[in-house]
Amino acid sequence: MSTNNNGQSFYVTTPIFYVNDAPHIGHAYTEVAADVLARWHRQRGEDSFLLTGTDEHGEKVLRTAAANKTSAQEWTDKLVHDSWLPLLETIDIDNQDFIRTTEPRHEANVQKFMQKLYDTGFIYQGSFKGAYCVGCEEYKNMADLVEGSGEYNGQDVCAIHSKPVEQLEENNYFFKLSEFEQPLLDFFEQNPNFIQPESAKNEVVSFVRRGLEDLSISRSKEKFDWGIDIPWDDSHITYVWFDALLNYITAIGYGQDDAAFQKRWPATVQIVGKDILRFHAVIWPAMLMAAEIVPPTQIFGHGWLLVGGEKMSKSKLTGIAPNQITDIFGSDAFRYYFMKAIAFGQDGSFSWEDLSARYQSELANGFGNLASRTLAMVRKYFEGVIPSPASYTEADNQVINVAEAAVRDADEAIDAVAINEAINATWTLVDELNGYITSQEPWVLAKDETNRERLATVMYVCSEGLRVLSVLLAPVIPKAANKLWAALTEGKLGALSDQPLNDAGTWGQLTAGITVSELEVLFPRIEAETAS
Ligand code: MSP
Repeated sequence: MSTNNNGQSFYVTTPIFYVNDAPHIGHAYTEVAADVLARWHRQRGEDSFLLTGTDEHGEKVLRTAAANKTSAQEWTDKLVHDSWLPLLETIDIDNQDFIRTTEPRHEANVQKFMQKLYDTGFIYQGSFKGAYCVGCEEYKNMADLVEGSGEYNGQDVCAIHSKPVEQLEENNYFFKLSEFEQPLLDFFEQNPNFIQPESAKNEVVSFVRRGLEDLSISRSKEKFDWGIDIPWDDSHITYVWFDALLNYITAIGYGQDDAAFQKRWPATVQIVGKDILRFHAVIWPAMLMAAEIVPPTQIFGHGWLLVGGEKMSKSKLTGIAPNQITDIFGSDAFRYYFMKAIAFGQDGSFSWEDLSARYQSELANGFGNLASRTLAMVRKYFEGVIPSPASYTEADNQVINVAEAAVRDADEAIDAVAINEAINATWTLVDELNGYITSQEPWVLAKDETNRERLATVMYVCSEGLRVLSVLLAPVIPKAANKLWAALTEGKLGALSDQPLNDAGTWGQLTAGITVSELEVLFPRIEAETAS
């Protein structure tokens, strides 16, 4: 067996979430995807680090706090503790850090970064006149706006929030984004995987080709003051996106612990929703280039969870809270469903019917039942002791080949951030094993003592197949995978977290003689009324 530490470092980030409201399943979707990737790489033995956190400054958060008659700090503290940290438990996220943009480790180092760009001439003072969407916290030009309807009839509204934009006229500081037009295009060309998927990349490249304007990166304190002071001019605060993007480096030591920073940076992959792709694929690498820091290796833009064809959102009252789903189906099913049902990178619609149907057919009947009946048969026919296999037949070898291919294909899919393909590859083994049990009919073999050897082989093949599945499924449905691992291995093969994923397809790791224990039902039956 290869060692479980190949020395590679994997650093994945989620966007940091606005704390103007509680999370909905669209936010949870981003978290789960990043967590599956992080767990997968950790399961390979890599030094895998998942960063998530909250974006706490800006007008949007300040206005929400005011509307709730509290200070911005009190409001953000409350939402982080009551809603955003509990989300991580609800959907079983194993993050290595959680950064809040109001923490000193962030604020102080944002100021260092700003000062550096000011000193090197990338920031200058100018005047800004134009439109701003507080919902997006973004400066907008006419091309970003659409005609409003209903109460906003006749007005220009933000295409995402369907609400009127505000007209700003301020003396602000600007970042020389326009200077990075060509360097960015060169960078995209030299690093063809920097923006993924391909459709997202094309969108960004044509956006940059149309020309970049300098970006206002401060707001006057005359308007509001919930942000990080501009270090050389305390009558201004930092534009919330300039502040927020820097979380990816301040969390890992930028400005204060160079060794820690060098160890993790550049990030391997930064997961973002497609609505915030331009910030991450244009402004962010330009900021880093200005500071002479290499950009991240990849920005992956995923699609939206849609309701009625539109992005699910709390502001449009279409948000579903993650625990509405996990309270019924559990965190594993939540994770599995969203990762399997939607091709990562494309939009998808959530439906309770689809979730219930997949829960029943794929998780409960497909995988759960395979696990429980295999262990039940080992108990029934071999007193719970995993038997030694005798010689393998063609059918057995077929399972072995499918297992090997499933591991290889799933692992390759993860490198392409094709999470649903990794799950599909894993399911080829679930289906193969279910078909194998049907065709080998162990319950028929058990009736005749002369078939004892054959029965032993069949039960070994099924049990060893389950070992492979536990490892492959650990990043996606960690609770079920750990329960199965505990029941199957009696602790004799070490912890599930120590099983190198890329070696999981090597057949024969489960040792005969292990006594299996009872497996609690992995995906219990859900009454139809509860799930609708
Ligand atoms: N605070 C900024 C990000 C700053 S990162 C330096 C932000 N926050 S957000 O809370 O509005 O959104 C966070 C993430 O949730 C984004 O990636 C966004 O795409 C994602 N989603 C919000 N609604 C979503 C759906 N309906 N579907 C899928 N993802 C969605 O933007």
